[in-house]
Amino acid sequence: MQGRITLTQYLIEQQRQHNSLPADLRLLIEVVARACKMISHNVGKGALGNFLGSAGSENVQGEVQKKLDVVSNDILLEANEWGGNLAAMASEELEQIHLIPHRYPKGEYLLLFDPLDGSSNIDVNVSIGTIFSVLRHTDKTRTPDEQSFLQAGTQQVAAGYAVYGPQTVFVLTTGHGVHCFTLDRELGSWVLTQSNMRIPHATHEYAINASNARHWHPPVQRYINELLMGKDGERKQDFNMRWVASMVADVHRILNRGGIFMYPADQRDPTKPGRLRLMYEANPIAFIVEQAHGAATNGQQRILELMPTQLHERVAVFLGSKDEVDRVTRYHHEMG
Ligand code: AHG
Ligand code: MN
Ligand code: MN
Ligand code: MN
Repeated sequence: MQGRITLTQYLIEQQRQHNSLPADLRLLIEVVARACKMISHNVGKGALGNFLGSAGSENVQGEVQKKLDVVSNDILLEANEWGGNLAAMASEELEQIHLIPHRYPKGEYLLLFDPLDGSSNIDVNVSIGTIFSVLRHTDKTRTPDEQSFLQAGTQQVAAGYAVYGPQTVFVLTTGHGVHCFTLDRELGSWVLTQSNMRIPHATHEYAINASNARHWHPPVQRYINELLMGKDGERKQDFNMRWVASMVADVHRILNRGGIFMYPADQRDPTKPGRLRLMYEANPIAFIVEQAHGAATNGQQRILELMPTQLHERVAVFLGSKDEVDRVTRYHHEMG
């Protein structure tokens, strides 16, 4: 097919046009995309590759690890170790940060990832994905430690996700809009299929795990009750609901046709500010959503401006179509 732009071509163009995409960052993104290709291949094998089910271990979050959580984590670590562009990595599946082994050259970036997002969907053949975030290792004289990773999301130089669904797609931002590449399974290459994705400001669609309704804080109760009242309430329009239980899949829908995604903190455990992890789930997705003209808050403030205090810290999430995110954030401000 003529006029096809591959991920490699796109990145080289970016480097030339904006002069803002350094060659080492471009190569790092290519390595992550290649690892996602390998994960996609394994995901696609399912039971044939003996990849379904639990790995019989727990991660630092106390979640039972699926075999594909572990396999995907290993693929990302291995692919990125020898590339020469990284100082260290961090993952949902690793308690501690992962330093680049001595035998490989080091670079000036830090890579964070959720190797497999939507683990509960692996065994039932529903879309799952990978999320990643790239930060700079600012103090190059120092071996990176956990503290080096604790930077606000505004410091991200690149972020993206892959969705392993009916199609495998790779969605990327380097701070110049959001672009989607579809995996051509025959050629094994990522082909640009959507440029400058935009989230409409208004929407009639929302995503939340409503089984937690009785635990929600009052601002969330108020907001969702209004949506449920539809035409008969003060919003004067009906709203539709979708919940995939893979954030990447819900976010990909929102990037394509708008919507608001919520995973609020609730009244069960005051020490747990939400379910999703700030550094490798909320921050990269918030960067993408803002680049697509959407909004992302924790109910109080921009997710990207939060200063992390721990690698695996959790955060409440309201993101997607700007008008709705602004409204639910306003309810939090109004109701204390
Ligand atoms: P992970 O599989 O990486 O641990 O993350 C799962 C997250 C997110 O993808 C999803 O939106 C949410 O958990 C689903 O939560 P529920 O189980 O409450 O539906
Ligand atoms: Mn998990
Ligand atoms: Mn996840
Ligand atoms: Mn995960």
